[in-house]
Amino acid sequence: MVIVEQTELGPLTTMAASGCSRYFAEAGNADTLRALIRHCQEKHIRWQILGGGSNVVFNGNFDGMVIRLTMKGRQRCGSVVTASAGEGWDEFVAWTLDQGLSGLENLSLIPGTVGAAPVQNIGAYGVELAELMDRVQVYYPESDAFEELSRADCQFAYRDSIFKKELVGRAVIVSVTFSLRETFLPRLDYPILADQFSVKAPQSAAEVRAAVIRIRQRRLPDPAVIPNAGSFFKNPLISAADAQRLISEWPDIPVHASPEGDFKLSAAWLIDQAGCKRLAQDGVKVSDQHALVLTNPGRASGAVVLALATEVQQRVSDRFGISLEIEPVVIS
Ligand code: EPU
Repeated sequence: MVIVEQTELGPLTTMAASGCSRYFAEAGNADTLRALIRHCQEKHIRWQILGGGSNVVFNGNFDGMVIRLTMKGRQRCGSVVTASAGEGWDEFVAWTLDQGLSGLENLSLIPGTVGAAPVQNIGAYGVELAELMDRVQVYYPESDAFEELSRADCQFAYRDSIFKKELVGRAVIVSVTFSLRETFLPRLDYPILADQFSVKAPQSAAEVRAAVIRIRQRRLPDPAVIPNAGSFFKNPLISAADAQRLISEWPDIPVHASPEGDFKLSAAWLIDQAGCKRLAQDGVKVSDQHALVLTNPGRASGAVVLALATEVQQRVSDRFGISLEIEPVVIS
């Protein structure tokens, strides 16, 4: 168990927001994780689990211990695969395809780790993790116990799960199990992806993966080059009455019927139309590649990032009467 004092937070997250953590440690296995949390409990130190840091914004310094999960390992049993929390998500997706299993290809190139993926129920190009995840193993520090949670236990919804609600700070995901397919079944409901195959249908999951990678590289800024946390806002879910009101006022507005039973708006479109694209404040910018993404080329603090987010929310609210919800986890 190695604990480092006064660690820079910037390199630990893809948003690269400046700041410092009082303590930092890595947990490469479950025993180290238990020991670190026990240490924090005994010394009354706050602790915060981190994976790849791709969906997190620290708002200033963190007066506690950041514990980065680095545990590795993946197993296959038929079409069921399990990966440890510290595995890189995209490496894991590539490995499942190499194994001849499909299902996760639409979720290619999403930054972050396997353990973080269920927290926000990652989704892209018409597929959500919840459709393929079978169960997670979690560690409960309060009772010092490991338990399995089923998909239903996780209360998945659009970019949401029990890990963002009741279980915040109470459970640590240590491994995730997926039920995949041995027979390839293309999922091309998302128009931008379907366009890639208008001439010839894909013959393999690897072809879909390659297309998703092409689209993402073209449309989203690479966090390894320009710091960002992916989509900074959720696409708002609205009622049928609100959808009617907006369509009559803004006939071009993209509105999609959502599986949750409501209507979903495109946050990127709202931000764009509210004149926020390329908006910049103190080194933080609304990406000119994709209006949903805030970039932090100047490696400004979380407070500066959140100030720009508030400005975007205000302008969208003034123009459309819609409130945008922040998507990454904000840690104060
Ligand atoms: N649009 C604009 N301006 C822009 C970009 C997009 O007006 O600058 C409009 C266009 O009308 C476009 C529509 O927004 O057709 C939708 O854009 P896109 O296909 O990029 O999808 P999204 O709804 O903006 C969501 C996810 C992404 C995911 C893509 C693809 C959320 C919050 N975001 O974005 O997820 O990759 O769909 O499935 O649901 C992430 O969560 O970090 C993330 C990148």
